Amino acid sequence: MYSEKVMDHFSNPRNVGEIENASGVGTVGNAKCGDIMRMYLDIDEDGVIKDCKFKTFGCGAAVATSSMATELVRGKTVQEALQVTNKAVMEALDGLPPVKVHCSLLAEEAIHAALWDYAEKNHIVIDGLEKPKSDIHEEEEDEEY
Ligand code: FES
Repeated sequence: MYSEKVMDHFSNPRNVGEIENASGVGTVGNAKCGDIMRMYLDIDEDGVIKDCKFKTFGCGAAVATSSMATELVRGKTVQEALQVTNKAVMEALDGLPPVKVHCSLLAEEAIHAALWDYAEKNHIVIDGLEKPKSDIHEEEEDEEY
């Protein structure tokens, strides 16, 4: 049911933890399943993501997608990180079962929330970044996969 890459990132998740004095921290939850995700971003003065860590109270698919998402955004600029959608993360993991697609949204939204926090702290506007929701569950019904 799960690809080898999903199993690998689930059993051996990358970048689990916290970043002290992070440039941006974002927390989102999904009220439907009760899972929570928190992302920490360390962003340098050029707007490049130097480090990214996550913590989750979430299912295996949420762990695997967050692990992959942190790998994908590290080294990217803030603008490039916005392109790391849940679809991009799922592709990098060779897919997820349809019932688990919503789990990948936690990682994407938590990164957006952390970027939003970073933008607010630095009084900047990140083009294309919308104010994240703290609960992604309401949006889900409208999403097309
Ligand atoms: Fe809630 Fe996967 S079941 S994030």
